[in-house]
Amino acid sequence: MTDAAKVRLRWSLLTLAAVALIGALVAAALFFGGFDTAADYPWPQPISWAIHRTMTNSVKVRARAVAAPERFTPAEVEAGFRLYDSHCAMCHGGPGLGRQPWTAGLEPTPPYLVEAARRWSRSEMFLIVHDGVRMTAMPAWRGRFSPGQTWDVVAFLQALPDLTARDYARMRALAGPSPAGEPRGGGAVPSQASSPPR
Ligand code: HEC
Repeated sequence: MTDAAKVRLRWSLLTLAAVALIGALVAAALFFGGFDTAADYPWPQPISWAIHRTMTNSVKVRARAVAAPERFTPAEVEAGFRLYDSHCAMCHGGPGLGRQPWTAGLEPTPPYLVEAARRWSRSEMFLIVHDGVRMTAMPAWRGRFSPGQTWDVVAFLQALPDLTARDYARMRALAGPSPAGEPRGGGAVPSQASSPPR
């Protein structure tokens, strides 16, 4: 056998071994329960970094096609508040308002959104709310909100960095009781959140 033929044989065997190893790992995950599908399974740091990076870039690229309104009216912020308070606050909390304690069972844990408008443009926030985030607990809201309602939510998210706990409580009081059948979001204020309600 020539040297070149030996090298080729070695590489073929190595490739075969690599394919067999990948096949064995896939089979272990798929058929033998080797992959933990628990909702709160924490990814190793480099993997969660890579997942988040992928999501950030996916949103940034796709949001280029979304044209955002120039500005929002106070009425839109108010309408967005109502939608946020009844659909989002349970996971994302709000000024002076903790997340529901059960959100600790989600991986990744839903982030507080007080700073979201500083990280994301209006178009990007629209897209995240409209489409949700794959493989996380963040739902796509397009089946629940019209595009106009989604922009209302974005209007509220944009106002959020400037809202105090007192502002949020005042908006809740003005909005009155939540409409029948709509869950009222938000857990206890973080400092009280250590004793979960029974
Ligand atoms: C069941 C829990 C849940 C509900 C309800 C929910 N979200 Fe989320 N949301 C998440 C999770 C989890 C993430 C983190 C996704 C990730 O890490 O990529 C997220 C991410 C986001 C982000 C991106 C945050 C960032 O800075 O990366 C925005 C904005 C957002 N949600 C807005 C909303 C709005 C608005 C609503 C209500 C209409 C809502 N979410 C309802 C779980 C939820």
